[in-house]
Amino acid sequence: MGKTIVLDHPLIQHKLTLIRDKNTGAKEFRELVEELSMLLAYEVTRDLPLQDVEIETPVCKATTKALSGKKIGVVPILRAGLGMVEGILKLIPAAKVGHVGVYRDPETLQPVEYFCKLPTDIAERDLILVDPMLATGGSAIASVKFLKDRGAQNIKLVCLVAAPEGIEAVQKAHPDVDIFVAAVDERLNDHGYIVPGLGDAGDRLFGTK
Ligand code: PRP
Ligand code: URA
Repeated sequence: MGKTIVLDHPLIQHKLTLIRDKNTGAKEFRELVEELSMLLAYEVTRDLPLQDVEIETPVCKATTKALSGKKIGVVPILRAGLGMVEGILKLIPAAKVGHVGVYRDPETLQPVEYFCKLPTDIAERDLILVDPMLATGGSAIASVKFLKDRGAQNIKLVCLVAAPEGIEAVQKAHPDVDIFVAAVDERLNDHGYIVPGLGDAGDRLFGTK
């Protein structure tokens, strides 16, 4: 079974409270999602491999550590996942970015796939799949399958707010995928929205409501 890691650093909890607030406007919402994504990326990349490098400090020669160049891919689930990309790229600027387009049918809550463009070498990359919201889990499960069907071997799912139902569904469907979240909320409501949640992340990011 994959692990679910809840990243409840005080800065993360504070910024989450701000984006949950319905009075937070699109500009601030976008900035906060970027900052939260950067904070999550710090922990998501904790196991990146290092190698020894020889350098010279102003004082002496030294053997120190540097990233060994593991290839990484960041894959936002369109649309709302787009809001998380820049924050992650600030920490790992060499990562390549793929896109998976999935939306949730508002009636059936089933995921509908409409786009996929990925780096050609995704089988060699550690992939960080990002979406602010993990509700029923349908979109994430379909997106992971998308990636696996195209050769992906190593996927981490990174979300801001998750419902217990979504976590359970992803763990069941893809037990090899670890999930990193900033908060696990109480439940889903009858419309499949996370409670208390933050509303529709895509609409709040892009001002479409
Ligand atoms: C939202 C969200 C997730 C999905 C979560 O996207 O960004 O992708 O819903 O719900 P699920 O876990 O029940 O599948 P939405 O379908 O609203 O599309 P959008 O990003 O284009 O707004
Ligand atoms: N998608 C969202 O954007 N918010 C939710 O609460 C559930 C799905």
